[in-house]
Amino acid sequence: MGHPAGQRIVLITGASRGIGAETARVLAGRGDHVIINYREKLKRAKTIADEITAAGGSATTAGADISDEAAAHTLIETITQQFGRLDVLILNASGGLERNAASDYAMSINRDAQTRLVQLAVPHMPPGSRIVFVTSHQAHFHGRKPVPADYEPIAASKRAGEDALRAMIPTLTTHGITLHTVSGDMIDGTIIVQLLERRNPAAVSARRSNAPLPTIAEFATAVAEATTSPAESGHTVYVGGPDYLIADSSLPA
Ligand SMILES: NC(=O)c1ccc[n+]([C@@H]2O[C@H](COP(=O)([O-])OP(=O)(O)OC[C@H]3O[C@@H](n4cnc5c(N)ncnc54)[C@H](OP(=O)(O)O)[C@@H]3O)[C@@H](O)[C@H]2O)c1
Repeated sequence: MGHPAGQRIVLITGASRGIGAETARVLAGRGDHVIINYREKLKRAKTIADEITAAGGSATTAGADISDEAAAHTLIETITQQFGRLDVLILNASGGLERNAASDYAMSINRDAQTRLVQLAVPHMPPGSRIVFVTSHQAHFHGRKPVPADYEPIAASKRAGEDALRAMIPTLTTHGITLHTVSGDMIDGTIIVQLLERRNPAAVSARRSNAPLPTIAEFATAVAEATTSPAESGHTVYVGGPDYLIADSSLPA
């Protein structure tokens, strides 16, 4: 399969639905080749790739449970064999709320899998490449703002993942690679918010009462923009949740 010279090769983890899928559509619409990673829903991932191709874009699918070390190795190896390099890595896949998830799964997927994927990808990312970490305000502000009890392990592990990735910035800089974080309030229309709205409607209406929740399209566009913005490595883009962003002098920096 040929790829036009200069076309960026972009891997988006967890892109078979929701924010990852929409980010794939946006970036493919801007001319990138998008690799749609999924854990098990091949059919869904293929449908997204087919839609992108039918619209004149360029997309492939790549199944891998990124929390599985061997699968993560194979994912990066297959991509580099197929495309020779990776220009953008979007760390979107996340987990921990799944039924029957082991107690250590949240840390495994939200921290360890993220840093491992970066370590595996970096040798194949040319200078000028980017890594984008997708997170939620509840995770990004973990320890500084309250979090609902059932989301606590996810928020803590995603914050640990963000800290571990930030600790890699000096090494990434030596490779000419930058790290960008995009943090969002609850995103309207996602499965997670739909489920939460059924289980704990007060939690969602409390967020809505602050400001309208961002849509999947708005959040995915911000993630796509982070792959080209001139911001410095380590920069965070915030989407929605203006109450999170009000400085509170009683909170730790
Ligand atoms: N939803 C929100 O309100 C919200 C708000 C702010 C930030 N975010 C962040 O945005 C990102 C995406 O959220 P979302 O709500 O769109 O997610 P989602 O609907 O739960 O989608 C999950 C995606 O990740 C894949 N996935 C799950 N576990 C995986 C694993 N171990 N390995 C590889 N892929 C895996 C799934 O693949 P399969 O379909 O094959 O299982 C699916 O494509 C997350 O980082 C989340 O923290 C979400």
